[in-house]
Amino acid sequence: MNCKGLICPVCGSPLSVAENGRGFRCGGVKMHNFDISRSGHVNFAGGGYDPNSGDPVDMVRARIAFLEEGWFEPLARCIGETVGALGGLCVDAGCGNGYYTEWAAERAETVYAFDLSKYAVEYGAKKAKREGKSCLYAVSSVYGLPLASGCADTVLSVFAPVAEEEFCRVLKDGGRLIIAAAAPDHLRELKAQLYESVTENTERGDLPKTMKLIEKNRVSYTRTLHSGAIAALYGMTPYSRRTSREAAERLLGLEGLEITFSFDIYVYGKKEQV
Ligand SMILES: C[S@@+](CC[C@H](N)C(=O)[O-])C[C@H]1O[C@@H](n2cnc3c(N)ncnc32)[C@H](O)[C@@H]1O
Repeated sequence: MNCKGLICPVCGSPLSVAENGRGFRCGGVKMHNFDISRSGHVNFAGGGYDPNSGDPVDMVRARIAFLEEGWFEPLARCIGETVGALGGLCVDAGCGNGYYTEWAAERAETVYAFDLSKYAVEYGAKKAKREGKSCLYAVSSVYGLPLASGCADTVLSVFAPVAEEEFCRVLKDGGRLIIAAAAPDHLRELKAQLYESVTENTERGDLPKTMKLIEKNRVSYTRTLHSGAIAALYGMTPYSRRTSREAAERLLGLEGLEITFSFDIYVYGKKEQV
């Protein structure tokens, strides 16, 4: 088990693998311990952690059902290639159930995956264990990562909060932040089923302000979804929390729907090093 770059979230001392191999122990005076759970994940969020933080279980289940059918594979492939070109240590910040983590894990030397949702992290860890993959899944906020400054070659942020200052801290000089976000026409047809008038998605407000944009690529395609995939897609989006019952019933009553998937993939570097 790798622990390169991991630090204690309590005192900041470097972590090493515990003697029994079933957790991490810090090198500080208090020797804080972090056990690996039966599912294979670690909780770095500490005693004050609210288990209802991050995405709720129904949303996580919907995302698993949808992603595991491969509908976002073109995006995953593009992310995998970008991570692979950089290699080294990749941090998936806001990893969810680990769909993109897996693509990164096949291409980077070491992958750490962090998310506030215990359900999502548990799923990712169990799957990695079952499949013999070595990436570490842990509960942690992206705003306070248990990582030494300057340890990461890449930070991956896929539809997750962009903690610019923290990502800059953990990135090496020359490291890269990869962000995937919805492009203007992403899910246009799904929104048309839910709302009377459809507006394009605007650029996300938390894109880095102090970093330098090196590359921006768009991945766009359409797919015809069956009713189960429509329901799963709806359940994993914020629309499922804020549409009327009639609109939801109309969408969920469809047997199929052609949907546009459109993603922007940004690659940023720390300004002073680009
Ligand atoms: C839209 S999901 C994307 C998950 C995954 N990257 C994917 O695309 O499948 C956003 C994720 O960010 C997580 N999240 C939200 N706030 C967070 C925070 N402060 N720290 C860590 N994870 C967070 C949620 O629990 C959720 O899993």
